[in-house]
Amino acid sequence: MTYQLAVIGGDGVGPEVTTQTLKAVQVAGERFGFTVELTNYDLGGSRFLRTGEVLPESVQAELASHDAILLGAVGTPGVPPGVIERGLLLKLRFDFDQYVNLRPVKLYPGAPTPIKDLTPERCDLVVVRENTEGMYTGVGAFQNKDGPDEVATQESINTRHGVERVVRYAFDRAVERRGKLTLCHKTNVLTYAGDLWQRVVDEVAVEYPAVETDYVHVDAMCLYLVTQPERFDVVVTDNLFGDIITDLGAAVQGGMGLAASGNLDPERRHPSMFEPVHGSAPDIVGRGWANPIAAVLSGAMCLDHLGEYEAAVAIEQAAASVIPELGSMGGPDMGMSTNEIGDLIAERIADGG
Ligand code: NAD
Ligand code: IPM
Ligand code: MN
Repeated sequence: MTYQLAVIGGDGVGPEVTTQTLKAVQVAGERFGFTVELTNYDLGGSRFLRTGEVLPESVQAELASHDAILLGAVGTPGVPPGVIERGLLLKLRFDFDQYVNLRPVKLYPGAPTPIKDLTPERCDLVVVRENTEGMYTGVGAFQNKDGPDEVATQESINTRHGVERVVRYAFDRAVERRGKLTLCHKTNVLTYAGDLWQRVVDEVAVEYPAVETDYVHVDAMCLYLVTQPERFDVVVTDNLFGDIITDLGAAVQGGMGLAASGNLDPERRHPSMFEPVHGSAPDIVGRGWANPIAAVLSGAMCLDHLGEYEAAVAIEQAAASVIPELGSMGGPDMGMSTNEIGDLIAERIADGG
């Protein structure tokens, strides 16, 4: 098999960590008998500052023809907020209808969780974040902008179609995992959107008698994710709640340098896109201090999506094996540079150890 992968290193530490993902994916291909053909795309804040372009239509059309996209991170200081995030990252998620943002929260052995006495057995869940609707659609307006009586509105859009498809995806994952699905929302306050989400979960649950369903308000989710992560198996939630709780999840699992994600079009009409949960980390760029493990684990999720299951497991195991050997999960005291970690992971994938 040959896979066409589009690579968007992006900004800040994005290209630094993506380079390590590519090493891992290529070595895995050599070991498991597939080839990856890579096409690099220069997109992000740096290109925007240079050329004024965010995502030319012709580039988007090329991206569409790939089997999957690997993305590092985007966001550059000096570019107004939203230009790149909305114009590139969210545009790709929306236009390629990557309606599932799958974000595992998994504590690997030896990872420095800040939670006292937390063990890997107690922390293994996946967040299924709705990825095309909610507060992210950009529906809103100003009235009387800059005046003393200014009003800014920002609406959350929730369609039955959009909610149902992501809820079904979450139930399917729960069947393959430990058979528990938790809806995370704020139904006690967001009585329209929350009501729709709860009704859809209840309706779909009838088709999945083997899955136990549960509900938790998003504020309490933040409490339980820290105190009792073992409560959760699959958590389904809307776009904004999913964004917020997965940074908390990243902290629980040992840091932003460890949290992976996939933006999936489960129907495979468009390429899915894999990226670390973290951003461009402008505070540590160019130092070799960025932990590439989140990006490498996203590469494993990509191969899993493409059906290269053994390769995905081999990458995950090799990346996980390095965690206990690091001084910290990113920063000056990591003990190895970004590159050294990438080389070590690649070596272990090749060795099968
Ligand atoms: P961030 O995730 O870039 O950084 C938050 C903190 O985590 C920083 O202290 C950073 O040093 C640390 N960190 C991030 N990645 C790390 C890694 N691999 N290893 C070690 N430490 C790491 O979030 P932010 O500072 O809020 O955002 C910076 C920019 O990134 C913004 O422009 C934002 O919009 C953008 N962003 C992009 C994405 C994406 O491309 N998917 C995601 C989040 C934020
Ligand atoms: C993420 C990021 C993005 C989001 C931003 C950069 C648009 O925070 O992938 O978690 O909010 O989804
Ligand atoms: Mn985020």
